[in-house]
Amino acid sequence: MHQLNAAVIANAPLTGDYWLIDIEAPAIARELRPGQFVNIRIAGSLAPFLRRPFSVYRVSQDRSRLQVAYKVLGEGTRLMTTTMPTGGRCDVIGPLGRGFSLPTAAKRIAVIGRGIGIAALPTLVDEAVARGVEVYAFLSARNAPNIVALDIFAEHGCPTKIHTDDAPSAAVVTDHLAAMVDRLDFDAFYVCGSNRLARATHVLATRLGIPSEIAMEQHMACGFGDCHGCVIEVNADRSGAEKAFREVCHHGPVFETWEVVHV
Ligand SMILES: Cc1cc2nc3c(=O)[nH]c(=O)nc-3n(C[C@H](O)[C@H](O)[C@H](O)COP(=O)(O)OP(=O)(O)OC[C@H]3O[C@@H](n4cnc5c(N)ncnc54)[C@H](O)[C@@H]3O)c2cc1C
Ligand code: FES
Repeated sequence: MHQLNAAVIANAPLTGDYWLIDIEAPAIARELRPGQFVNIRIAGSLAPFLRRPFSVYRVSQDRSRLQVAYKVLGEGTRLMTTTMPTGGRCDVIGPLGRGFSLPTAAKRIAVIGRGIGIAALPTLVDEAVARGVEVYAFLSARNAPNIVALDIFAEHGCPTKIHTDDAPSAAVVTDHLAAMVDRLDFDAFYVCGSNRLARATHVLATRLGIPSEIAMEQHMACGFGDCHGCVIEVNADRSGAEKAFREVCHHGPVFETWEVVHV
């Protein structure tokens, strides 16, 4: 884990409510695994007092820079758009948490994301594609401009289904996955950004007997297991009979879906 006062290479609107910040952070970028996150401090201000956690969206090929795609939601993210200009600095800690695991023998996976959850997926997709794994994407958001990373999925030629709340339909995006699994073999599922999609993914994975993982979002403070501010209740075994408590920043943010989905 490193704390850097990273140079900001660029910080500009991306799409919809999202901005993209690109920072020089080789120590973090070199060690980062897909699904891990960074914790960013808003410099020169006590409000917000706590750092803000973000998935790493992409790492440059030479692993010197990393990008975060962030949705402007409240005071912290609003200040990120004004206090971290191109040429400025970004106080960042990372890499943090436990990331995704990609089975060695995997040939085809599905990634399922909603809203800001989609921003956790591109590093996994980059690694999967580099290993020759076929990736199918199932993405949803409030409206089309708020679906990030479509260009990344297109760059890799991933078959992609999208669903937006403003397009009248009773379906959810996992319905497309459910319709595919009888004719295509998937080796693992990865979901992020929606409890409803997580439940649907978990049910499908259980039926198929394949692993499925979820990247959790939770309010955080320290980001590395010290403050116990991000504890959630989890299933301690697959039956769900035994419960336990886990820090999302430290044991996660990636969990197996059976740990967190209460069906
Ligand atoms: C591991 C992890 C990875 C994340 N990755 C990304 C990412 O890649 N891109 C991105 O845009 N956001 C991501 N988030 C969420 C991001 O941390 C919050 O959106 C951000 O902290 C909001 O800060 P703010 O000061 O602007 O908003 P606040 O004023 O703190 O909050 C605005 C609203 O958002 C809600 N909120 C804030 N943080 C969270 C949270 N963590 N979980 C659920 N609700 C929240 C608040 O309850 C409030 O309603 C991630 C969160 C975690 C824990
Ligand atoms: S944020 Fe401090 S323990 Fe998780």
